[in-house]
This record gives sequence, C-alpha cells and structure tokens, in this order.
Amino acid sequence: MTTYSQILELRSTLNDYREKKKSIALVPTMGYLHDGHLSLIKKAKAENDIVVVSIFVNPTQFGPKEDFARYPRNIERDSELAKLSGCDILFIPSVEEMYPAGFSTYAVVENISTVLEGKFRPTHFKGVTTVVLKLLNIVQPQVAYFGQKDAQQCVVIRKMVTELNLHTEISIVPTLRESDGLAMSSRNVYLSPDERKNAVALNQSLRLAERLIHQGERNSETIINEMMKLIQSKNPTTIDYIEIVGTENLEKRTSIKSGDTILIPLAVRFGTTRLIDNTIITV
Ligand code: PAJ
Repeated sequence: MTTYSQILELRSTLNDYREKKKSIALVPTMGYLHDGHLSLIKKAKAENDIVVVSIFVNPTQFGPKEDFARYPRNIERDSELAKLSGCDILFIPSVEEMYPAGFSTYAVVENISTVLEGKFRPTHFKGVTTVVLKLLNIVQPQVAYFGQKDAQQCVVIRKMVTELNLHTEISIVPTLRESDGLAMSSRNVYLSPDERKNAVALNQSLRLAERLIHQGERNSETIINEMMKLIQSKNPTTIDYIEIVGTENLEKRTSIKSGDTILIPLAVRFGTTRLIDNTIITV
C-alpha cells in the first residue's frame, strides 16, 4: 500500500494503472475507520484491481457549530486497517491541497439536499457533493463505494453522478452494526456508557417499524409515533426527525401502499452526540 498526499502524484500513479488496463475503485472516508468502512474496502477489493481509499475530514460539510475540530482522527491505525482490508492506495490530502486559498466552486444538488439532514445541517450536502465530485475527478474510478448508513448521502450522490454525467458507477453497501444492533459510526466513541446503551433504541425503533408494517400498519403517523415512544423511553436529548419517505425523491409518505419501497431515516441526539440510522422496507 502506498500513501499519497499530493493530487498530482496520485494522478500520475493512477494513470500508470489505467494504461495497464487495471480497474480502479474509490472508497471515500473521513477516517477513524471501523468495520463498516472496512466492509466497503473489502467489497471494493473483491470487485476491482486497485482500491483507492481517501481519508479527509472535509471541513466544508461541517456546520460552524459542529464537530470538525474534535472529529476523531488516527491516521496510523487507519493506515494499518486499510492495508489489511485490501487498500492499495491511501490518499490523505491536506485541507490546503483540497481547498487552496480562494476556493469558490461548489457542487449543489437542489431540493433533496434541503430535507431531513439538510434541514438540520443546511450546508452539509453542499460540502459532501463538492468533495465527492473532486475525489471522483481526481481518481476517476470505475466504481465508488458508499454505505447505506448515510441513506440521504447515497441518494444525493447518485443524483449528482447521473445529472452531471459522471463516468463512475455508485455501489451502495449495507449498514454494518454492532452485535446489539447499533449502526457502526466514527461518532459512537463520543457516547458515554449510558448513552451507548440507550442508543440501541435507534435500531430497535427501525425493527419495530418493520414489524408494524409487516403486520399491516399503513399509516405513517401511527408508525412514527410508536418509534418516537420507544426512543423517548431511552432519554434522548432530542429526536431531530423520524420520517417515512420515498427512496428516490425523499418526499414524505403519509400512508404506505402495497408494492411501495420506502425509506425510514432518523436522527437522534444522545447528550451532544448526534446519531443517524435508517431502514429501507419493501411492502
Ligand atoms: P464517513 O462517515 O467516514 O463514511 C465513509 C463511508 O463509510 C460512507 O460511505 C459511509 O456511508 C460508510 N459507512 C459509515 N458507517 C457505516 C456502517 N456502519 N456500515 C456501512 N457503511 C458505513 O460519509 C462520509 O465519511 C463523508 O460524508 C464522505 C462521503 C467521505 C465525504 O466527505
């Protein structure tokens, strides 16, 4: 595994691989790797010749009051884990390399970036789409891998790739969970032991929704209220949202029809830690 911090050097190496007709995959991350990230890297390696993993805590996707400065970082451990999982090239640019002084060009996916997460993090997806577009242009991979854990991010990136005619396939990998069901996240390390125990309520509420729907419940408000009750019983600081939406346009569904595929995304704070999770259900 080779590590690069400069775009030009990375590009030159990747051009050599392209000349040798090697297929190239990209796994973009913000580091502090866990098994969820590693499952993306392993899938990428199983399906491609060369796997590029980027580690970049992207300042433009954090709001002014968010955790950019304290976002967990451990490059040494990440390098080891990435290598063991099949990463060939690690790309760790500096903020200046990605955003030179005077940077002023952004990619924005309108409408679907302003609902759900976008309501609580108004500048978040502008930062995500901009950095992902830059990474896709730098690496020019055949395939880029993203986790279902960040469901709205997947929908927004897919739309950008389609509408801007990017030549990369987007592959979505299932959410990896801890043994008690909590979705793996770099931010789980912020949780106190009590908050960590209570945070299983997120996954439990999603499984409850699945049960209710499979038992025939079709009213979204009823399902959301039951999920709220379950989470409220575990002392969250706030429930930012629980919604039932379409998987493509992210529009709210007040009722569910047979044959529908719906997405149930949620965001909940325990203490100062904001967690997201979701499930997709085909009725
Ligand atoms: P980060 O949160 O580091 O996540 C990197 C990738 O790992 C994302 O595609 C995310 O959905 C996936 N991932 C995270 N937790 C997962 C889990 N438990 N199971 C499966 N996949 C999981 O998402 C970002 O970084 C950034 O927004 C990024 C796309 C890198 C742009 O900066």
